[in-house]
Amino acid sequence: MHVFARHVACGLALLQSLAAGLAVPSPEFFDKELVTRRVVTPATVQAELGSKLSSGSLIYGPESPLWADSTERWAGASLPDIQVVVLPAAEDDVSVIVKYCNRNSINFFARGHGHGMTKTIATFKGIEIDLKLLTAVSILPDKKSAWIGGGQSVAGVIGALWNAGYVTPTGSNACVGFVGPALGGGHGRYEGLYGLASDNFINLKVVLADGTKLLVNGSADCHGDLFWGLKGAGHNFAIVTSAQSKIYPKQVDTWHFHNYVWTQDKLETVFAALNTFHGNGTTPVKMGVNFGQFVIEPAISAAEAILQWAFAYAGPAAEAEALLAPFNAIGAIVEQVGDVPYTQIPEAQGMGVGSPGCASALYAGTSANIQAYNITTERTIYKLFNQKIAQYPALATVSRVFHEGYATKGMADIDPSSSAFPLRDELHLVFFTTAVPPGSGLTAAADAWSTQVKDLWNGGQPTRRPTTYVNYATGGESLQSMYGYEPWRLARLRALKSKYDPNNRFRFYNPIV
Ligand SMILES: Cc1cc2nc3c(=O)[nH]c(=O)nc-3n(C[C@H](O)[C@H](O)[C@H](O)COP(=O)(O)OP(=O)(O)OC[C@H]3O[C@@H](n4cnc5c(N)ncnc54)[C@H](O)[C@@H]3O)c2cc1C
Ligand SMILES: *[C@@H]1O[C@H](CO)[C@@H](O)[C@H](O)[C@H]1NC(C)=O
Ligand SMILES: *[C@@H]1O[C@H](CO)[C@@H](O)[C@H](O)[C@H]1NC(C)=O
Ligand SMILES: *[C@@H]1O[C@H](CO)[C@@H](O)[C@H](O)[C@H]1NC(C)=O
Repeated sequence: MHVFARHVACGLALLQSLAAGLAVPSPEFFDKELVTRRVVTPATVQAELGSKLSSGSLIYGPESPLWADSTERWAGASLPDIQVVVLPAAEDDVSVIVKYCNRNSINFFARGHGHGMTKTIATFKGIEIDLKLLTAVSILPDKKSAWIGGGQSVAGVIGALWNAGYVTPTGSNACVGFVGPALGGGHGRYEGLYGLASDNFINLKVVLADGTKLLVNGSADCHGDLFWGLKGAGHNFAIVTSAQSKIYPKQVDTWHFHNYVWTQDKLETVFAALNTFHGNGTTPVKMGVNFGQFVIEPAISAAEAILQWAFAYAGPAAEAEALLAPFNAIGAIVEQVGDVPYTQIPEAQGMGVGSPGCASALYAGTSANIQAYNITTERTIYKLFNQKIAQYPALATVSRVFHEGYATKGMADIDPSSSAFPLRDELHLVFFTTAVPPGSGLTAAADAWSTQVKDLWNGGQPTRRPTTYVNYATGGESLQSMYGYEPWRLARLRALKSKYDPNNRFRFYNPIV
């Protein structure tokens, strides 16, 4: 892939497709009334498309043993209606598939790692383009960047780079995609040092709604306008078949982690310590993230949630523990510490490939963003938790109120106008999830609980407008809360939409139109 990076300019990619007649959208593409074919079967798609794809590509339906892995989603409560899965073996196949879908008025939807949780996905019916074979990670000779396949996971990126001595910002959870989260920003443990995953994009190879292949980067003659939009609102505009991202020498051989369990009587002390620790964006930059949750641990108490917090630091134990002294002083009932290679940090923080966060079929709840924890609010949300699980015991061990405290300096230092990501002044991502057991009839109860938690969080910062990290949106959030309250942001996104996706083919993930 680095060969491509060195020899193909963005203009060239466009010219090549012009020469081949491909940049001129086919007449079907201009059909305003795209009528989805009533029946799209694997056999038809195999017959019509199969021979046009590179070897190793696959086309299958529900009878295939590969189907479950391609269609199961983390948010099992809002599933798209997938009729056929197409698995491209090469980046160029994506364009061929998109053009085929357009010619036949079939909707298409890219799949990375199936963790998108918004209900808007459920409006989709058509062909899923499962990108999971596009996983190459290839470091360029100058060791300053790497090309990463559009279907690679966080675990895959971290592993490939770390083993070569490098890191790049990715999401924190090992099993989410690399590109998927970055299209909405991309929060992760290297954010304090290097910014969001999307802040580190250099070039993107994309396929537009009409199947045109483009190389996109920050310069005006390389679709800089689209590059801006892909970094924060990317799901609306294109399929990224690979991304060239900055990489950094790893600097340390191990990360330090420290996990705590506190009982509820420590809640006020814990949140006061967190507010001091994070200041107003002054979190120590190497303190990658702390994840904290209210959760039932039956071995400790079946009725009272515990406070479970996991910190991770890019450096030695002594340095980390000096910073963690205020938390050590609180008095935990369980503690775990260790120093491990970065590749093992997701697991140490409960975000590894085998963790509950990677399992499917969870009901997605709600989220908010916060600058400083409102301690009264946190106490109220905590009490509500114990009250709800007493009322709905089936939800007791599957519900969690989650708090994320990233180091934010690298992210906050970047000019907010440089990308479509609008939330650089937010410090904490918080969310609530629960898993409604099938047949329990508790969906409405879970929804009501979600709304209460969200309203409490937003009510706890009365001088601020509610915002939503687009990747944590569950559906129904306002466009402004996801894409920015500054009117120029939505105006710019809408202009991009009419330029690059006039027929709104990318409309299934928190769409701006
Ligand atoms: C358990 C869990 C942990 C999470 N952890 C983090 C985290 O640490 N940091 C963070 O920022 N977010 C995190 N998220 C949110 C995450 O950013 C979104 O869920 C994201 O959409 C997941 O991408 P995916 O590829 O796994 O999912 P998918 O559902 O496969 O994709 C989500 C959306 O992205 C699109 N997409 C995926 N790949 C491409 C591509 N190559 N080109 C174009 N479109 C593409 C899909 O079409 C879809 O619209 C987490 C979510 C969950 C459920
Ligand atoms: C974008 O890519 C072109 C072609 O490779 C290159 O000339 C240009 O410098 C790049 N611009 C940026 C801002 O990276
Ligand atoms: C925190 O910083 C932001 C700017 O990032 C500012 O708008 C806000 O007023 C600050 N809050 C406090 C409590 O100082
Ligand atoms: C905390 O939340 C309450 C509402 O629950 C609100 O009245 C109060 O002003 C909030 N405190 C701060 C510091 O914003």
